[in-house]
Amino acid sequence: MAATSPDLSTASRGIYLRLSLTSACDLQCAYCRPASLRGHREPPQRPPTNDELLALVSSIAATVPVHKVRLTGGEPLLRRGVVDLVAGLRRLLPEATLAMTTNGQRLAELAVPLRDAGLARVNVSLDALDEERFARLSPTGRLGATLEGIDAAVRAGFDQVKINTVLLRTVNGDRLGELVRFAAAHGAEIRFIELMPIGAGAPLYADEYLSSHEALARLKTVARHLGPLGFSGTARRHAFDVDGRRVVVGFISPVSHPFCDGCDRLRIDARGRLVGCLRDDDGIDLLAGLRAGRSAWIAEQVRDVLAGKGREATRWPVRTMYGIGG
Ligand code: 5AD
Repeated sequence: MAATSPDLSTASRGIYLRLSLTSACDLQCAYCRPASLRGHREPPQRPPTNDELLALVSSIAATVPVHKVRLTGGEPLLRRGVVDLVAGLRRLLPEATLAMTTNGQRLAELAVPLRDAGLARVNVSLDALDEERFARLSPTGRLGATLEGIDAAVRAGFDQVKINTVLLRTVNGDRLGELVRFAAAHGAEIRFIELMPIGAGAPLYADEYLSSHEALARLKTVARHLGPLGFSGTARRHAFDVDGRRVVVGFISPVSHPFCDGCDRLRIDARGRLVGCLRDDDGIDLLAGLRAGRSAWIAEQVRDVLAGKGREATRWPVRTMYGIGG
């Protein structure tokens, strides 16, 4: 594929920034952060404070327009001061869409404060709807807490609540219809994401990977397909009818159809490093630059990373998802 880097300086929308607030998580999902990876924590080395994160976002936004910020983890709701951080981002970037990806375990108590602080969209990860499968995948979690979190988010009136489901052959490959029915009942869009061979996902990949293509075919056998809706961001969307209710199902295919061309994402990982691509092995230590007062250097790094975007990645990184922030 031609190395066409997106023209970010003139693109009206600018970039989509994903900000990892911590590499910690209260779940130990088999494909992401299982207990067996315990000795493999990414060293936090004095993680960024809220003020430092805001300063990093501010220097990025001074270099390139930021149209959207998504807070990720680990689990972003484990970060102390997360509501204040949302409020700070709201003040700093009044025009940007603020979103979060969470496992939902603590969302029941935080949904309203987060919405009041200015969070507009919430994606909740949900890979299984029955206790046995949830426990097999995420042994330290409580399915009930995630379900309460989703209810609370819907009631809180966010602009958008989405369900994120990683496609896993033996965990939910035979339950896709149930998950779509659940989303429809909550008026939420659901997005099926292909398992990536990153970190703990790598050893599971051979047994668990299920392509979007196969998932769509399976879904068509259990729900009425109303038709494709085209692309939105990274998702290929389809409309389905379940029990007389229309639901939008998105398929995100980083493995079978990488979306490098035109990717407008930048990431700050849990250690305050700038990561230009999910598939990079390392980042650039913007936090160290900030602490050393090197703002011109930070701007230069952001420009360099942007200039290198759009190239198709050829291999998977040797690092963990929870350190990068998905
Ligand atoms: N493959 C795909 N998605 C992953 N996530 C974490 N690890 C992986 C992986 N190996 C993402 C999913 C999940 C969120 C917590 O992180 O989107 O819902």
